[in-house]
Amino acid sequence: MAEPMRGMKRTCRCAELSEENIGEEVTVMGWVQKQRNMGNIVFADLRDRSGILQIIFEEDCTGSSGFEKAGKLRSEFVIAVKGIVEKRSGAVNKNLATGTIEIRAKELRILSEADTPPFPVEENSRTKEDIRLKYRYLDLRRPDLQRNLMMRSRIAGIIRQFLADEGFIEIETPVLTKSTPEGARDYLVPSRVHPGSFYALPQSPQLFKQLLMCAGYDRYFQIVKCFRDEDLRADRQPEFTQVDMELSFVDEEDVMDVNERLLKKLFKEVLDIDVELPIQRMTWQEAMDRFGSDKPDLRFGMELKDVSEVVKNCGFQVFTAALGAGGSVRGINAEGQAAMPRKKIDALVKMAKDFGAKGLAYLAVNEDGTYKCSFEKFMQEDELKALVAAMDGKPGDLLLFAADRDKVVYDVLGNLRIEIAAKAGLIDKDVYKFLWVTEFPEFEYSEEEGRYVAKHHPFTMPFEEDIKYIGSEPEKVRARAYDIVLNGIELGGGSVRIHQDDVQETMLKALGFTEERAHEQFGFLLDAFRYGVPPHAGLAYGFDRLVMLMAGLDNIRDVIAFPKVKDASCPMTGAPDIVEEGQLEELGIQVCE
Ligand code: AMO
Ligand code: AMP
Repeated sequence: MAEPMRGMKRTCRCAELSEENIGEEVTVMGWVQKQRNMGNIVFADLRDRSGILQIIFEEDCTGSSGFEKAGKLRSEFVIAVKGIVEKRSGAVNKNLATGTIEIRAKELRILSEADTPPFPVEENSRTKEDIRLKYRYLDLRRPDLQRNLMMRSRIAGIIRQFLADEGFIEIETPVLTKSTPEGARDYLVPSRVHPGSFYALPQSPQLFKQLLMCAGYDRYFQIVKCFRDEDLRADRQPEFTQVDMELSFVDEEDVMDVNERLLKKLFKEVLDIDVELPIQRMTWQEAMDRFGSDKPDLRFGMELKDVSEVVKNCGFQVFTAALGAGGSVRGINAEGQAAMPRKKIDALVKMAKDFGAKGLAYLAVNEDGTYKCSFEKFMQEDELKALVAAMDGKPGDLLLFAADRDKVVYDVLGNLRIEIAAKAGLIDKDVYKFLWVTEFPEFEYSEEEGRYVAKHHPFTMPFEEDIKYIGSEPEKVRARAYDIVLNGIELGGGSVRIHQDDVQETMLKALGFTEERAHEQFGFLLDAFRYGVPPHAGLAYGFDRLVMLMAGLDNIRDVIAFPKVKDASCPMTGAPDIVEEGQLEELGIQVCE
């Protein structure tokens, strides 16, 4: 058994065979899905990444293992079978692509045996994810994950080809590098040669791609791993992949144009879906006002309405106090939900509080036109009527209101909107709604740091007419940044970059960088700009998110071969792990208990 495959060569994959091949002799290899031993005849389902094929063994089957071995086959044994393609002798299996044929085995070889797997290798596994991830190599045998990863590879291939055809050059940038300011925490790698010094793993290739523009590679792209030490969510991993690009001598229109054509081609080829061009655009302010989110899901309505004017003189102090403090009162109309039970409304109130609200006011318009309202006692009847009218409230509707600072109001209602729509079944999973969100704020106030930080990154070009506000009223400055959003998920983002010294200097000053610190962190980029820098702009997609959405999934772990779990660990390898004392000594590192 030293070389069990000797003399045998695989001729095709299991599901590549069809009735057209009837009568042909073929050799297939793969894993036993299941085996049924009927005494003088043995059936086995053979699985490889293409699908499943039925094999039938009778006593004339030979080979080093022979017929008697066929009776001993068990799940996940790896075998090779030479045989003849025949029309199925038994009932046709409509669930299989190869359901009308089978292979009559002439020769069987067992290539390797298998222990009983800790969970069945089957489509739509109900095994808990932590077990599946511990044995990811078995999990990855499941047809759904295999399809996801094959789709991922295909999408990458189409993107590569499209960008190459458009004159983009693929260039790799370093993984051991210096910190890139994308707003997350860095992963650090200690240097042995320079004790006490650390490389940072790139949060994105941002600085390098801008240097490549300085170097004249006027269209660059890369499908590249990025690393961010941030809290994990369904659409976030500590290491993830970007489709990253940068272009010279362009503005935002050029970047959007090439990317719209890329998305159109991709969705057509992979899903046979026609993306209508041009993709809709919306400013950040409009997205926040209408949807309470900078990545609105446009598959349903339930838009936010600003009712501040309507309630500014009402008797409900919660509303007037919020307005007095410079905030707003806004609402959403959950149409047809007036009969929502108290328990469910309480759950929405709790959710609102989790998003920072002090409370959530509600008003149900009963079918008979009366109201059930959590703040009725504070309001005159005509005030309530005006409020209902402003919300287009009809009998049967449930109106929900938040009063607070704009940021909180947007966050609360934006999230409730999605929750309510999901529960009410308003979201059509087969619809793809793309959107460009533009004119993001250049700065964002960080409560944590007590100062303004860059919303995108410090190299994003502000609108020319807003530059004058940088020092005095930074919140007014709009950035020439754009995000591409799909069904409520931020698929990618980019911007036109600053290439003028004076603008960059003003920006860095506003962000609180001293000249020394700016030089220390990315002096090489600022230096490079002194030697002739072309105007440039770019964009990066979250590749895992793109594949997830195209595969109709809601978690990026299902499109990543070896993902990490919530605490950023890998249940299979046990990473991160402690290391030997000697390794730490060599690096000059001491670990505090
Ligand atoms: P940004 O930080 O917006 O931009 O990242 C681009 C896209 O990457 C995806 N993404 C992630 N995906 C999975 N897990 C994560 N932890 C994660 N973080 C981000 C998102 C996001 O839209 N250098 C700029 C791009 C540019 O300006 O050209 C950048 O990195 O889909
Ligand atoms: P109370 O007088 O505290 O019973 O509040 C009356 C209603 O207003 C309750 O439904 C509260 O949940 C709601 N409420 C309290 N604070 C806010 C707020 N900031 N925005 C919206 N509703 C609120």
